[in-house]
Amino acid sequence: MSSTKIQIRGQPLSKVLTRNHGMINSVVCGVPIKRHHRVSNVLRTSDPPLGSVPTRTDESQFLRGDGNGRFGRFGGKFVPETLMSPLRDLEDEFNFVLNDHEFQEELTTALRDYVGRETPLYFAGRLTEHYKNISQTTGGGPEIYLKREDLSHCGSHKINNALGQAMIARRLGCKRVVAATGAGQHGVATAAACAKFSMECTVKSVEGTFKDAISEAIRNWVGNLETTYYLSGTVVGPHPSPLMVREFQSVIGKETRRQAKQLWGGKPDVLVACVGSGSNALGLFHEFLGDEDVRLVGVEAAGLGLDSGKHSATLAVGDVGVYHGSMSYLLQDDQGQILKPHSIGVGLEYPGVGPEISFLKESGRAEFYTATDQEAIGGNNPSFRSISRAGVPRQLVPTLRDGAKVVVNCSGRGDKDLDTLIQRGMPSSLC
Ligand SMILES: Cc1ncc(COP(=O)(O)O)c(C=O)c1O
Repeated sequence: MSSTKIQIRGQPLSKVLTRNHGMINSVVCGVPIKRHHRVSNVLRTSDPPLGSVPTRTDESQFLRGDGNGRFGRFGGKFVPETLMSPLRDLEDEFNFVLNDHEFQEELTTALRDYVGRETPLYFAGRLTEHYKNISQTTGGGPEIYLKREDLSHCGSHKINNALGQAMIARRLGCKRVVAATGAGQHGVATAAACAKFSMECTVKSVEGTFKDAISEAIRNWVGNLETTYYLSGTVVGPHPSPLMVREFQSVIGKETRRQAKQLWGGKPDVLVACVGSGSNALGLFHEFLGDEDVRLVGVEAAGLGLDSGKHSATLAVGDVGVYHGSMSYLLQDDQGQILKPHSIGVGLEYPGVGPEISFLKESGRAEFYTATDQEAIGGNNPSFRSISRAGVPRQLVPTLRDGAKVVVNCSGRGDKDLDTLIQRGMPSSLC
């Protein structure tokens, strides 16, 4: 059995995990491969066990896409012919494991015992007090609860998906796993998943931003299709990638529904999540798509301002186009060339969003707001991704009734952002 070995070229691990835009390149060795497709009992209960990956129980099919990776006009597979066959194999495998009792049990156990699920739904008393003061109502203002994905093993929601997909890679008999990481959270999660399944993992860095790391990882995958699994960290790319990532992340919303019931005997009124490309947002939202009385709110990075050209606010100012294998909203110029995104939260520097997120915008089911770097720094949550996007957006506050139960997805912890904070001068609220 091998352990996870992380090699970094030229710089210490902490740097790669914080500011570098690295690419994880993992090599699997000595893993028992399951190639059989034994259809066993579907795991369906009305109240699934803690940490379980949910199966689909909701009927609102319209909002859930056509099952073939199409959400309205978004999604699809815009890929060269050579990729069609591996993507079809992946789709078959994914559809199989969704209903495979053995797979689901192993994943549920790993999420509970390795990741530490379920993550708490925490009443944030001081944040509640803060919003009470600025909401200027005579009553109590909204109540803020944090879904603490930052307390997961490795410090973010990324591990939920990394584990699920590593298990699929193992089933497909892939000898290598390639993944792209921006801020490092998905890189660490992939390395941890590889460690769990005795896979060897090497970290390389590439020049550029998160989008360049994805391009490089896809290039590497395309050149090694026979042996390599591309482990996508977010809900972009050709079908079935967005669907798979969303499915593995939807444990967040399932838990939230149960916990809300336990805590206050009802549902949340509002769900808030940052939108880099959309995996933590969809992870929280998906369970509630059919609950029309639950508002879904995404927050994008406005960087230095929407007029500055330095932001990642794809939904606010982007247009529809094709990038990295699917159709969605993108930041692009008049010629369709992709624009360079910017955010203080490195993992948010992606010039697009997942197709399902675009569809939620266009269908009007979700609302989207923006927050600048400055607003992010002045926020209170630990991670910039969570600060900037998942702090309740100022524009939302006047629309919240007194006592509204607002769940904010705290998607990751903030130690990796400390360097940036120190460089910019720590705000007094965080000292
Ligand atoms: C902690 C954390 N939250 C959010 C994001 C943004 O990605 P997504 O929108 O897919 O959740 C990232 C991306 O690196 C992240 O590391």
